[in-house]
Amino acid sequence: MCGIVGYTGTQQAAPVLLDGLARLEYRGYDSAGLAVRNGSDLAEVVKSTGKLRGLIEKTDGGRSLAGTCGIGHTRWATHGEPSQTNAHPHVSGNCSGSGSGLVESEVTGVHNGIIENYLELKEKLSRHGYQFYSDTDTEVVVKLIDYYYKKYKIGPVDAINRTLVRIRGTYALALMFRDYPGEIYAARKDAPMIIGIDGSESYLASDVPAILNYTRTVYYIGNLQIAQLRPGEVHFFDLNGDEIQLESTQITWDAKSAEKNGFEHFMIKEIYEQPAAVRDTLTSLVTEGRITLEAAGLSDEVLRGISSVRIAACGSAWHVGMAAQYILEDLAEIPVRVELASEYRYRKVLHVDGELLVVISQSGETADSLAALRKAKDLGIRTLAIVNVVGSTIAREADHVLYTHAGPEIAVATTKAFSAQLAAIYCFAVQAAYVRGLIDSDQYDGYLRELASIPDKIERILEEKERIQWFAAKYANARDIFFIGRGLDYAISLEGSLKLKEISYVHSEAYAAGELKHGTISLIEDNLLVIGVLTQKDLFEKTISNMAECKARGAFLMALTSYGNYSVEDSANFTVYVPKTDPHFMASLAVVPLQLFGYYSGVARGLDVDKPRNLAKSVTVE
Ligand code: M6R
Repeated sequence: MCGIVGYTGTQQAAPVLLDGLARLEYRGYDSAGLAVRNGSDLAEVVKSTGKLRGLIEKTDGGRSLAGTCGIGHTRWATHGEPSQTNAHPHVSGNCSGSGSGLVESEVTGVHNGIIENYLELKEKLSRHGYQFYSDTDTEVVVKLIDYYYKKYKIGPVDAINRTLVRIRGTYALALMFRDYPGEIYAARKDAPMIIGIDGSESYLASDVPAILNYTRTVYYIGNLQIAQLRPGEVHFFDLNGDEIQLESTQITWDAKSAEKNGFEHFMIKEIYEQPAAVRDTLTSLVTEGRITLEAAGLSDEVLRGISSVRIAACGSAWHVGMAAQYILEDLAEIPVRVELASEYRYRKVLHVDGELLVVISQSGETADSLAALRKAKDLGIRTLAIVNVVGSTIAREADHVLYTHAGPEIAVATTKAFSAQLAAIYCFAVQAAYVRGLIDSDQYDGYLRELASIPDKIERILEEKERIQWFAAKYANARDIFFIGRGLDYAISLEGSLKLKEISYVHSEAYAAGELKHGTISLIEDNLLVIGVLTQKDLFEKTISNMAECKARGAFLMALTSYGNYSVEDSANFTVYVPKTDPHFMASLAVVPLQLFGYYSGVARGLDVDKPRNLAKSVTVE
C-alpha cells in the first residue's frame, strides 16, 4: 500500500528520497510528497497527485529542495480522496491550503496504515484549537504528537509514546521535529518499517527495495518501539522511553534483483526467475538428499504430532493453500482445511489438539493473514509461516517459519513467490508423509528427484512462450473467460483466473469443473473462451466431459495438460502442453502458461501490468 522513505546524512536528501519512492512505486499509490529540511530551517513540503514523475518534475529531480534530512511518501488513499491536500507529508501547524511549502510547524510526518479512532481524536484536538486542512487520519496523528509535545514540554520520544498509547489501528510513522534538525523519528505497529545504516548515512523505509542500493545493514524495529535516526546512527526506545538495543541484520538480496534488467516489466522478469526461486527454495530445505525442516523447529516428532492442518492466507497465497490441501491430504494423510484469512479472523474457530495453523504470505505483512496468525496463537494453536520477506511481522511472530527464497518480488501480481511457496509446501508434505510412515525411502527419493527436476521443466515451458503470447493477444478483448478443473487442477484454475483478472481487467471465473452445470453453465455462449486444466490423470476424462458440455453450447476450448495426453485434441480447439512430473507437483508447471496468458493479455491491452489499477503489492490494511 503506501510507501515511506526517510534519509538523514551528508548528501542532499530529496534525490535519495525520490529514488527510494520510485523503488516503492510497485506497492500502488495515487499521490506522493516530500518534506526536506535544511539545518535548523523549517521543513519544506512538496506534494503532487498521480504518478511520481509529477513530484520529480515539481522538484526538478529533487534539486529544488535543499537539505540533508527528509521524509517521503507515496499514498494509497484510505481516509479522504486522492488529492494534493490529502497527500503526505502532513504538518502540525495550523495552515490553510494543502499544507505545502515552508510551513510553520513543530512536527511533520508521513504515515502508512489506518488510525481507527482518528475522528474522536480530531474532535479532542479541535477543542484545543487545532484546525485541519485535510481529511486524513495522518494529520490527526501529527497534530496529536504536537499537542503532547507542547502540553508536557517533553522530547519527541515521549511525545510519540504518549500518542502511541492513544491511537488505535495499524501504522508506520516517520516524523521530523522542528527543534531537532537532522533527526527523524519512526514508530510502527503492525505495518512494516526498517532502518538502514551505512557510514554517516541513515535510511528508513517501509520496504527493503527502497534502500537496497544504499545499504544492506538493517534494523527491524518492533511493534510500539521508537527509532531516532541521526546521520550514521540510530537509537531505539521502548514505550516507557527507555533506550533498548536491537541487533542489525544483513539483507542478502541482490540489488540487481530489484531492477528490471532489460525486461519490459517486472512481472515477466519474475516469471523468468521462477526456476531460480524454486531451486533456491528447495536448496534451502533439502540437504544431502534429505528434507531438513529441523531448523524451523519442525522435527520429525512435531510432524508426527500434527492432527490436522488449517491454512489461512489471501489471494494467490490462498490458492497455494488450496493446492496444498490436495497434496497434504493425499501424500501425508493429514486433514486440511483452507480458509481466507479475512474470514478466519472474525469467526468462532473450533480447533482440535495437535492442529497446525499455516499462514502463507509473500510479504509477511498482509493484515488479514497477520490477524489470522495472532488469533491462532491466542487460541494456543501451533503456527507455521511460509514467508518470503525475512524479518517481516508474520515471520517474526509465527512459532515456525519456512522461508521461500524468491528474492524481492516487485510486480503486484505474484508469480515467483507463488512458485516458491508451492516448493516449500511440497517439502513439508513429503517430509510429513515420510516421518508418518506413509512412504518408504525409495518413494521419498523419487519425490526428491521429481522436485529437483521442476526448475528445468519450468525453463522448458518458458521456451515456448510465443505460442501463449499469440493466443493471449487473440483473446485480449474477451469479455469473460472461464477456467475449469477438478482437484488440484481447480486450484491451478483459481490462480490462472486471478492472474488474468488483476493484470488484464478481463472478467474471469474459476470453477470446479463439476460445479458448472449447477448454475454457471448458463453463462456459456458462442465463442466464449473456456480454459480446461487437465493435469490429473484420474480426473482427465471427467473434466474433458465438462469441457465438451461447454463446447456444445458454443464455447471455444483451450486445454492445458501434460505431454502425452494428446487425445485432448479431439475436444479442445487449442492445447498447451507442459512436461510431466509427479501429479502432486503439477501446479508448479501448469501455472506458468497461465501466468504468461495473464501477462500477455495485459500487455496486448496496453496496460501497466506491474501496477494494475486499485491494487497494492502488500495489503497492510483490512
Ligand atoms: O503478501 P501476501 O502473499 O500475503 O499477499 C497476499 C495477496 O494479497 C496476494 O497474493 C495478491 O492476491 C496478489 N496480487 C496476487 O497476484
